[in-house]
Amino acid sequence: MNPHFVLVHGAGHGGWCWFKLLNLLHSAAYHATALDLTGAGVDPTKLEEVTSIHHHAQPLMDFIEALPQQQKVILVGHSFGGLIISLAMEAFPHRILVALFVTAYMPHFLSPPATLVQRFFKSLSPENLLDCQFLFGDDPEMPSSVVFGHNFTTQKLYDDCSNEDLELGNLLMRPFKMFFEDLKKESILTEVKFGSVDRVFVVCEGDEVMNSEFQRSMIQEFPPKAVKCINGGGHMVMLSKPTQLFQHLIEIGESFNSTNECDHQAFNSCPQLN
Ligand SMILES: *[C@@H]1O[C@H](CO)[C@@H](O)[C@H](O)[C@H]1NC(C)=O
Ligand SMILES: *[C@@H]1O[C@H](CO)[C@@H](O)[C@H](O)[C@H]1NC(C)=O
Repeated sequence: MNPHFVLVHGAGHGGWCWFKLLNLLHSAAYHATALDLTGAGVDPTKLEEVTSIHHHAQPLMDFIEALPQQQKVILVGHSFGGLIISLAMEAFPHRILVALFVTAYMPHFLSPPATLVQRFFKSLSPENLLDCQFLFGDDPEMPSSVVFGHNFTTQKLYDDCSNEDLELGNLLMRPFKMFFEDLKKESILTEVKFGSVDRVFVVCEGDEVMNSEFQRSMIQEFPPKAVKCINGGGHMVMLSKPTQLFQHLIEIGESFNSTNECDHQAFNSCPQLN
């Protein structure tokens, strides 16, 4: 049975941001689904009603659980979606053929994911955050929720996208929570479950939100099976370079579908990493 691609959006976004990639996958007769997480996209739950990161991730868990047992899944997580697919890897390690982190948080089971998020926030200079709005809860260091500002969206998040995609983003993006308290918990991700699933990282060069040094630091700390690269697409690579991302997805899907482990080494596409 062909694997099912499940596309998981990042913070502020929804299933809608994958519309170009979905069209490419469906046109090539692949099974593919883009989900709205709880409180995101057109999901009717209000942000203040989203109680935990597990509540936020529930649509992904429900989706995987409802698939036939023999149906394998290729998880694709973008940005904050990397943390969400990690929770699904922990919950269903045997159902996942491979997990793709597309300029995404790729946590390690050795430390709580919050460590990674915190390091990311510390690496950002305030000038880069422009007009983003942050709300703080109990922790004065880490925001509890965020609204992307118009200038930030234009100059950082969507700077490599067409004007139409920028307009779409401005119409559809929603405020989001960081779930920092949940991400602080020890053993939210374990070596035996989460750690057993094959991972691939797609590095996005020129990303102004999660810069490529940060992406590379995660790769060095917890090397995935393979690394792919996309140049000049910025952060919203599914909108700016959908065809390149599609080609990487298909190659990865085919390589991991075959049982030949040796294949995996053959397709690293990041010269900087060799
Ligand atoms: C947004 O950008 C405009 C144009 O560059 C600038 O005038 C304005 O002060 C910026 N707003 C914020 C909140 O940074
Ligand atoms: C994956 O493997 C299955 C079973 O061997 C096969 O039917 C299917 O065509 C393969 N799909 C791809 C994308 O290679």
